[in-house]
Amino acid sequence: MKKILVTGSNGQIGVELVRHLRGIYGDSNVTASDINKPSVSDEGPFAVLDVCDGKAVAEFLEGSKVDCVVHLAGILSAKAETNPQLAWNVNANGLYTVLEAARARGCSLFFPSSIAAFGPASPQKNTPQDTIQRPTTIYGVAKVAGELLCDYYHLKYGMDTRGVRFPGLISYAALPGGGTTDYAVHIYYKAVAEGKYTSYIAKGSFMDMMYMPDALGAVVQLMEADPKKLIHRNAFNISAMSFDPEGIAASIRKILPDFKLSYDVDPKRQAIADSWPDSLDCSAARDEWGFSPSFDLDAMTKDMLQRVPKP
Ligand code: SER
Repeated sequence: MKKILVTGSNGQIGVELVRHLRGIYGDSNVTASDINKPSVSDEGPFAVLDVCDGKAVAEFLEGSKVDCVVHLAGILSAKAETNPQLAWNVNANGLYTVLEAARARGCSLFFPSSIAAFGPASPQKNTPQDTIQRPTTIYGVAKVAGELLCDYYHLKYGMDTRGVRFPGLISYAALPGGGTTDYAVHIYYKAVAEGKYTSYIAKGSFMDMMYMPDALGAVVQLMEADPKKLIHRNAFNISAMSFDPEGIAASIRKILPDFKLSYDVDPKRQAIADSWPDSLDCSAARDEWGFSPSFDLDAMTKDMLQRVPKP
């Protein structure tokens, strides 16, 4: 990776990944892009770019001599269910558009898939890397299509496509928007602000999660990995922990003993959570490129409670 374009740079991952990549590759070599201008502008180049506008993406890649695209632009799971047509257009057609522009210029491409690429028919515990995938959300359907499309571009055109299946990502720099795993971010903000949280996800619903610093490290580690060692290229299962609301609350109580958790379950987001795995098998990522997250639940809780902005 030398000249990088990050799409969807205003999102939860984008805000931090752009900073992380600039720290490694230099400010001027990492262009942030999004359909909207960022509310706070960062150091380094930014472009307004609609990932569904193939001409604009192709012109940008050519003009800026980009050789790697990190394609993050997308609509998260719960929001996608409120407008499946828009979600398909941005998440599936947007990826296709960016893949085509990147192929024409010989760029490599990183695409984040998700635990949402699995469905109720997938094994729920220790979900294997290669297994049945029949997701029941439009977000998941687009992610499976994206995984296959990225594999296809590698097979057919020799394009250097790589990607992971992200679990729920927890961070303090930018809030996620419209996801199912967002509760695991909101709970820390509410714990710091009010000492209590009402969860829209039910007790006993386990989902895979990871702290943002480990997610940023994983993107760079995979993109820099020796291609000869990659048996898979895309959609590597990665996760650092699996917990339910009670588990994260117990971790918070080790630092804030009076923290209170209550429930007001949202049936729509609960149905999505129920269709996703409880825990992933990440052995392919470990074996093929050395994936090794450093934050477990308690280490993440300690860091989040220190860093979440106090009201
Ligand atoms: N964290 C995402 C969501 O909840 C899944 O990848 O939509």
